[in-house]
Amino acid sequence: MAQPSRGGYLWNDIDIARRSDLKIGIIGAGNIGQALARLAVANGHTATLSNSRGPETLRDVIAEIGCQAKATADIPSVSDIVVLTVPLTAAFKIAPHLLDGRLVIDTNNYYPDRDGKITMLDQRETTTSQMIANHFSGATIVKAFNAILAKDLLDPVILPNAAKRALPIASDDTAAKAVLTALQADFGYDTVDAGHLVDSWRFERAKPAYCIPLDTSGLISALAAAERDKELPEGSWRR
Ligand SMILES: NC(=O)c1ccc[n+]([C@@H]2O[C@H](COP(=O)([O-])OP(=O)(O)OC[C@H]3O[C@@H](n4cnc5c(N)ncnc54)[C@H](OP(=O)(O)O)[C@@H]3O)[C@@H](O)[C@H]2O)c1
Repeated sequence: MAQPSRGGYLWNDIDIARRSDLKIGIIGAGNIGQALARLAVANGHTATLSNSRGPETLRDVIAEIGCQAKATADIPSVSDIVVLTVPLTAAFKIAPHLLDGRLVIDTNNYYPDRDGKITMLDQRETTTSQMIANHFSGATIVKAFNAILAKDLLDPVILPNAAKRALPIASDDTAAKAVLTALQADFGYDTVDAGHLVDSWRFERAKPAYCIPLDTSGLISALAAAERDKELPEGSWRR
């Protein structure tokens, strides 16, 4: 299925069988942005970071990671895949059409203390990823890397019997999920498909699958155990 294009670029031209040197643009250069940039570079990809203050403020960070920096407005022009990893409400301040035609990895979570109260989320009428998809309506959104702590991306937790950790993803686009499954395999993770964006509440903040290191069967059980109105105690997922 053809995706809307920007500058002639079609993300579903990504050949996942030959995915060396993907260009991964990362909007947000904090904990998760930097951790994913490191993983991208370590796996032979090109990473470009942006933040709210401009690329010159990232000079030391990019030198240390071995990646690039650009203004956020320039990220799509240097990216096969865009990672959106900013505080949730900051995402809605980014121009909606900036990511038209792009495959966008949405790592964002809702923290009311940080983001302010968002009634639609508090009343379980939508998910964070559906809100992102509504804002960036010309992009293809995959929820991923939201349910793992940045420190665990950098220093993976050893599971019992050295089982491989699995991470959940959700998207309304099957091809996009295949790209994410391949990328997560490169980064050392199994993937559990948790369904569409409407289902992604199952691994939002304070659900049993949120930031708990689990293998595939454990993650499948945790996703199934999630209840929409039930939250784990705040911070119980941080060891
Ligand atoms: N930390 C974790 O372990 C973790 C795990 C999973 C998911 N998440 C989620 O992932 C997202 C990012 O988390 P984080 O911990 O990496 O955040 P963070 O460390 O606070 O970093 C946020 C980054 O976003 C940038 N930013 C803010 N507004 C922006 C804008 N309008 N345009 C471009 N960049 C902007 C900031 O740039 P400036 O510094 O220049 O303002 C900063 O580089 C959040 O939604 C979080 O809930 C976090």
